[in-house]
Amino acid sequence: MVATQSDRHYTPASLAEALVALVRAEQPTRVLDVAAGDGALLAAAAERWPAANLTGNDIDKDALERLSSRLPSSELMQVDALSNALEGVRPDVIVLNPPFSHRGGYLCSVTFAGQSIRCSPAMAFLMTATSILAEGGELVAIMPSNTRHSSKDAEAWRILESSCCVTFYGSFGRGTFEGCFPSVQFVHLLNQRPEIVTLPISPSKSLGEVAFVYRGTMPVTRASAEGDTRLLHSTDLCPRTIIRRKPILRCNSSTADLMGLFITFPRVGSFQSQHIQLRSFMEPVRMSDCLFALWSTDELRTVELHNMLVSSFEALEACYHGTCARYLTVNDLRSFLSDRKWDPHVVRPCSFKSCSTAKFRFSETL
Ligand SMILES: C[S@@+](CC[C@H](N)C(=O)[O-])C[C@H]1O[C@@H](n2cnc3c(N)ncnc32)[C@H](O)[C@@H]1O
Repeated sequence: MVATQSDRHYTPASLAEALVALVRAEQPTRVLDVAAGDGALLAAAAERWPAANLTGNDIDKDALERLSSRLPSSELMQVDALSNALEGVRPDVIVLNPPFSHRGGYLCSVTFAGQSIRCSPAMAFLMTATSILAEGGELVAIMPSNTRHSSKDAEAWRILESSCCVTFYGSFGRGTFEGCFPSVQFVHLLNQRPEIVTLPISPSKSLGEVAFVYRGTMPVTRASAEGDTRLLHSTDLCPRTIIRRKPILRCNSSTADLMGLFITFPRVGSFQSQHIQLRSFMEPVRMSDCLFALWSTDELRTVELHNMLVSSFEALEACYHGTCARYLTVNDLRSFLSDRKWDPHVVRPCSFKSCSTAKFRFSETL
């Protein structure tokens, strides 16, 4: 059993609700928390999906007793989540706030998709939990913010992202948890192999890597809570707004703008560095006309582009004009990118209509 038993920082209710709100499934059958503590995440799950079967596992017997009185109908298990004892559960949703302890050099060994990996304890919980998730199932986790770029977890993320669709959401600073000071972020993981294809455009030699720029087109006034296509709007970019679960905006449209991995940030309105988000969508989504989307020729370069935007946030923010609702023009964004050695290609939906290998499907009618 791994030495992570002391990490008993339970999730505040508002954060648990926000995490559970990230799950896309409307009615999962079985929800599991592999390190459930006294059930903060499962309580949020029970609130959202009253009909779901809940399973809470923890090595801490006292915590399980408290979980049992809080959620009497849930099934309890007391096994080491890093062993293979949970393999038979096959939940369609996993909620997770793993132990973050042993920040120093402590590494765990886990086996994932037949490969043996050494990584941080939090990452080991994430990998082991993912390996028992049903095909097409979803996992949402609270992870330490530094794990994304930590060299000790780099190999684990590479392997995980090659077999699942992973999306990172915002970040929550110190003070989120009582009595300890980690900065955390949300991770959403869909247990489905991502479709990775390369756009048939080679990077320009003189400038550097290509940055595709797409300005959303759909007026948000045409959105509703109904409809067949998800509409991404600037309200989706603020992690704090999901704490009050709001309906996902939809629009009736047989066409959609983007799918796959891309970066979104506001074209107009309030703009903070946490609004620059790297998102991955398996289904095509429409982009509201308040947003820009950016991506590069492959996933690694798209991540690099995201890092550049976040680290140059102040310079980017200075490119916005206006006194009331500040806005960014396509031309100013183009100059900003060129100044930083990214070669901007402004795309319109029709640019990719005939491109069968593009991972971004574009509207026929726009
Ligand atoms: C950070 S707490 C999170 C608890 C709860 N999920 C929440 O969000 O409030 C981590 C939990 O992991 C449990 N834990 C630590 N090591 C474990 C292991 N090897 N297997 C199962 N649970 C473990 C601890 O007892 C603790 O309750």
